[in-house]
Amino acid sequence: MAHRPLIAPSILSADFARLGDEIQAVAGDGDTRADWVHVDVMDAHFVPNLTLGLPVVQSLLKATDLPLDCHLMIDDPDRWAIGYAEAGAYNVTVHAEAATDPVKIAKDLRAAGAKAGLSVKPGTPLEDHLDTLKHYDTLLVMSVEPGFGGQSFIAEVLDKVRAARRLVETGHLNVLVEIDGGINADTIEQAAEAGVDCFVAGSAVYGAEDPGKAVAALRDLAVHAQR
Ligand code: DX5
Ligand code: ZN
Repeated sequence: MAHRPLIAPSILSADFARLGDEIQAVAGDGDTRADWVHVDVMDAHFVPNLTLGLPVVQSLLKATDLPLDCHLMIDDPDRWAIGYAEAGAYNVTVHAEAATDPVKIAKDLRAAGAKAGLSVKPGTPLEDHLDTLKHYDTLLVMSVEPGFGGQSFIAEVLDKVRAARRLVETGHLNVLVEIDGGINADTIEQAAEAGVDCFVAGSAVYGAEDPGKAVAALRDLAVHAQR
């Protein structure tokens, strides 16, 4: 049984000129409050899109007390990930496809006080990274090809979620399972049933009239689907 589902709105779908206010929209009290804020860092090399980097994250850390979940879609995370942990990000996720020494990255992230996350693209098998994952706190299963918000959910990746959930339940892994891409009111229940703990949602939150209400509605769907 997974724990209380966590909702992590992705600011990729927010208004970049008003990021502080956009985070405040999901930082209210009670059910409308996000659990984490998901920050997509893209370098136009690992993915064909460019977003923001460490200076923006440093400013966001001053603007909110919500935990920042930094998803690094960048080449050479061995060099760059540590800065996000040292800045105070709650969870720093690197891509398995981009990391040269992911075990060292995890150790360094943890030593800097952050949780360490490992992400796999839709076509990347979990089996190749199981030993590495023993050093990590979160597993981010991509349910779209990384790079852009608003894409359609790839349901096939739920096999990886189920496999990870089984490994957690049998004590072979100790990670929180996170999913990212195409999560909305139509897809969150199947992801929750498969065993996801943390749901990233960009367009489903920031494309909504009231982002806080969207957070509450998504969490509610996940809670009921888990049972
Ligand atoms: C895509 C990013 C996602 C993105 C999800 O590469 O990693 O976090 O913001 O957006 P939606 O929820 O719209 O698919
Ligand atoms: Zn992301």
